[in-house]
Amino acid sequence: MEGNLILSVTPVFSGDKIEELQSVAGDHLFMHAQQVNDWRGNLKIFTKGEGVWVEDTNGNRLLDAMAGLWFKAAGYGRKEISDAVQNQMLMIDTPPAGGACVPQIELSGKIASLYHDTSARVFFVSGGSEAVETAVKMAKHYRHLTGKNGAFKILSRRFSYHGATAMAVSLGGSPAADSVGPTMPGAIYVNNWNSYRMPYEGDPIDVAVKCANEFETVILHEGPDSVAAIIAEPVSAAHGIQIPPVEYWQRLREIADKYDIVLIADEVITGFGRTGEYFAPTNFGIIPDITTVAKALTSGYAPLGAAIATKKISDAFIGEDDRTFKHLLTFGGHPVSCAAAIENLKIFDREDLVGNSRRMGEYLYEKLQKLYDHKIVGDIRGGLGLLAAVELVNDRSTKTSFAANIGLSKILSKILYDHKLISFRAGDIISICPPLSISKDEVDFLISALDESLVELSKKLTK
Ligand SMILES: Cc1ncc(COP(=O)(O)O)c(C=O)c1O
Repeated sequence: MEGNLILSVTPVFSGDKIEELQSVAGDHLFMHAQQVNDWRGNLKIFTKGEGVWVEDTNGNRLLDAMAGLWFKAAGYGRKEISDAVQNQMLMIDTPPAGGACVPQIELSGKIASLYHDTSARVFFVSGGSEAVETAVKMAKHYRHLTGKNGAFKILSRRFSYHGATAMAVSLGGSPAADSVGPTMPGAIYVNNWNSYRMPYEGDPIDVAVKCANEFETVILHEGPDSVAAIIAEPVSAAHGIQIPPVEYWQRLREIADKYDIVLIADEVITGFGRTGEYFAPTNFGIIPDITTVAKALTSGYAPLGAAIATKKISDAFIGEDDRTFKHLLTFGGHPVSCAAAIENLKIFDREDLVGNSRRMGEYLYEKLQKLYDHKIVGDIRGGLGLLAAVELVNDRSTKTSFAANIGLSKILSKILYDHKLISFRAGDIISICPPLSISKDEVDFLISALDESLVELSKKLTK
């Protein structure tokens, strides 16, 4: 990065201040999806970020191997994004209802110019779950407008993740939805692709096509006119960075076309360069009908998401009043967030972050192979941009996972932190998703920190 870091801001916290923060957090803060007892009194509080590095209140400097929560694509401390945000706030932060501000318009054009279909139309929202909600509603409404009134079913894959809101959580097909009772009617799941534990025996490409064909089986069983959409992540992060063969997505495209069903690619994690292309389906040679994005769109500097619709879909909403997409989110596409996104995408252009994702992704994957020296490493997935996973197993020959009661995740998170590496929820699966701006030296640091951590973990587990 070229001299644009916010180096002058070096916060110093006294012991008393840190204690006060821990106490207030312990009493009043809900940390998302975390048990209070796991962090009370010991919450990691971060005060500074620069490139791929972050600093906590204890002065630890760590490499963020998860780019925040899969979003810090351009890295931390980008002054130009902060300037753009400030300028927009001072000019006009939000438009009066019914109008728009300049960044919303410019960003829609910029996204369309990068998208598979340059005539695409963009519906801005505030984050990934809202993007999924929007895409699903849009798909149902589209099917309605094109003559399939009763199409309400949404097909997704088990062990995927499409968001936390009440509808989106229904699509994950994982236990995340268990505690909220009955989920959305019409949510139907099929097998997910898993290269390490394939759902069927046989050649991986045949198995991948067989997995894709499960969608067709369900469509025929349910009745094609009752199905609105198929939704899937191009690379499933929730399922441990599962990269399917190109034939998988090509088959999904064929099935969606055959039955006139909307194909939604949930690119909340993969969108904007993560897989070495701006949009992941480019790797598979297909174009989805609707794409959901969020995270890397602003590199997390401000909350923003979008549902991007191809012209075919968005044109259905043009015409008489009853064709209007009746969907309104007060803060969807906040101009300040759009200003952050525009500046973020300028950095992408200037520093070729997508190319860097491809190059460093290859380098990372090559270097990761060394970790097979550890007996507890069962599988290493990656090689498609800066997205990889190391899967740990108790027994490599049988692919048996560690018993849940050993608390692998707690032990490993601490070890990684001690080795100055952050990988959120590392356990059976260590996800690796660093900022796209990462350098070769930083990849080397990441690999040796992982290597040393696995040495320590192996020792602990054999004690
Ligand atoms: C594929 C996918 N879809 C949707 C979401 C939900 O995004 P958000 O947490 O911004 O609501 C996520 C979040 O990680 C995701 O990974």
